[in-house]
Order: sequence, then structure tokens, then C-alpha cells
Amino acid sequence: MYARLVLAHMPDPVATAQLWADQVSTGGLLGLDEIERVESANSALSAHLELAMARVAATGATMCAGPLFGPLQASAGLSRRLDQVVEVPVATAVAAKMFAMSLAAWGDSAVGDGLCTRAELGYLSGALSQLSSSSAKGEVTWLLRQASFVRCA
Ligand SMILES: C[S@@+](CC[C@H](N)C(=O)[O-])C[C@H]1O[C@@H](n2cnc3c(N)ncnc32)[C@H](O)[C@@H]1O
Repeated sequence: MYARLVLAHMPDPVATAQLWADQVSTGGLLGLDEIERVESANSALSAHLELAMARVAATGATMCAGPLFGPLQASAGLSRRLDQVVEVPVATAVAAKMFAMSLAAWGDSAVGDGLCTRAELGYLSGALSQLSSSSAKGEVTWLLRQASFVRCA
């Protein structure tokens, strides 16, 4: 069983992963990929990341679910096969385009939820639009936790 970037949407990712693990037959594997951490020194990218984390947190979920995998290790009948954090290279323009799409999809909901003002949203949208033609690389640190567990009993 494999899930990528799904636990980040769940209100209780550890319990959900445990439920998934319970469905795996003896000898079977559960593989999980979740964001460990994303950060940027660029002010527009970091402002978007802060807003995105707040939006996800408002739903009861955790955008960076990778650090939550620890408790699974102690779970009965599961043995950790792999646990690594890999850096995914993401160019500034790619991050900006992706973030701009999220912003457009959210519409004004972040304002309605009190997470930012309309002016801040407008500024962020303009800044991301400018960055989408940037040739910069190395401004974003995007870390993904990859873990797998084998069911031994
Ligand atoms: C960031 S996307 C990842 C999609 C795909 N796994 C990938 O890595 O490209 C998050 C996925 O989680 C799904 N999702 C969100 N909440 C969910 C829920 N409560 N139950 C099942 N799936 C959910 C969404 O429909 C979406 O397909």
C-alpha cells in the first residue's frame, strides 16, 4: 500500500496510517511520502508557505506530516524498512507557479477565514506572478520524508 501527500489532508494522520497498516498482509509493505519541511528565504514564497500551512491547519490537518511518522515505529507488528528525508529540487519559478495556482483556487477564502487581508492576498498574488518567470534556483528547500513499514505479524 502506498500513499503520497494524502496524510497531510487528514485530521489524524498517525491514526489513519495505522488503519492503513492494519490492512496490509503479513510481509506486505506500507509506503508513505509526506512533506517533512518546506522553507524559503524568498519573502513571497515564505509568505505563501505560511498562509498554506495556516489554511491546512484550520481544517485540522498538518501540511508537513512527515515529522509525525515517528509513533508508527513503535506500533505492534510493524517494522520500519526505510526512513529517509530527501530533498526535492524545486526552482523558484516552479514553486511560484504552483503557489499561484493554489492562491487562485482558494479565492478569497483565506480572507474570509481571517488568515490574511485582501491587500496581503493581492500583494502575494502579484509577487508570485512576477516570480513565475524567475530563473533562480536553490531558493526553496523542499524536503520529503519517505518511510516504509513491513508487516511482520
Ligand atoms: C496533494 S494530492 C496528492 C495526490 C497524489 N497522491 C500525488 O502524490 O500526486 C492530495 C490527494 O488527497 C486526496 N484527499 C484529500 N482528502 C482526502 C480524504 N479525506 N480521503 C481520501 N483522500 C483525500 C485528494 O483528493 C488528493 O487526490
